[in-house]
Amino acid sequence: MPSNSAHTAKVSGGGTGPRHVAIIMDGNGRWATQRGRPRLFGHHAGARRVREIVEACPKVGVEYLTIFAFSTENWKRTQVEVAGLMSLFRRYIFKEMQAFVKENVRVRFIGDRVRLDAKLIGLMDEAEAMTSHCTGTNLTIALNYGGRDEVARATRRLAEDVAAGKLKPEDVDEETLPKYLDTYVLPDPDLVIRTSGEARISNFLLWQSAYAEYEFIDTLWPDFKAEEFARLTSAYGARDRRYGAVRA
Ligand code: IPE
Ligand code: IPE
Ligand code: MG
Repeated sequence: MPSNSAHTAKVSGGGTGPRHVAIIMDGNGRWATQRGRPRLFGHHAGARRVREIVEACPKVGVEYLTIFAFSTENWKRTQVEVAGLMSLFRRYIFKEMQAFVKENVRVRFIGDRVRLDAKLIGLMDEAEAMTSHCTGTNLTIALNYGGRDEVARATRRLAEDVAAGKLKPEDVDEETLPKYLDTYVLPDPDLVIRTSGEARISNFLLWQSAYAEYEFIDTLWPDFKAEEFARLTSAYGARDRRYGAVRA
């Protein structure tokens, strides 16, 4: 472990497994198409997969799970798909809220809320408030989230603080900026998993994943199971994270 790195202080867990896993849940549409069904059928199947992975977290030592549900770019999809997804999110949060409390899961949302409808925002607030006392798995759902959008919004707030005299430009550094990000309470992800065979980041946690390990797997999200999750988290333990240093 390098002795002098801003990143290590934030990312490293105590054990050998990843403390924070972030997942780009991709492939719902293709999963549905393979079955001759509409894309929303795949999104519903995908949403049902989340519970099993959340429940697997304590078993594999994952304290933080962050899932990408809707990107700032996903508004480009058809109105039918976007409306169907928004309705799915509302129903999902409403339905799962009690289960999260029961399982001691603390729920948070990241992303820009301005484009979301009032009913959905209300449910997001309710889920966060209802689980604020939970001390188990930290589940963060990225909804209308984009890494560039997040950094731009953070920079705007930071600039406002500078303009108001609360912050000096010379005090802005790698420690200051993340305090303005949506993820300010979360450690950086140790492992980022993307399902569905695409090897790209699609604007997810750009700042936070600077030193994350990546797993790009072919499984489509609705087929992703706890066993595969356990296999990936255990494989992570064998990786040598050097953070730019040379191991002595
Ligand atoms: C991921 O599955 C879910 C969202 C982006 C909302 P996709 O809908 O992107 O599925 P594919 O990539 O088209 O198969
Ligand atoms: C990324 O998947 C966003 C989510 C999983 C929510 P996309 O399917 O939107 O990404 P691209 O279009 O393949 O890059
Ligand atoms: Mg996709």
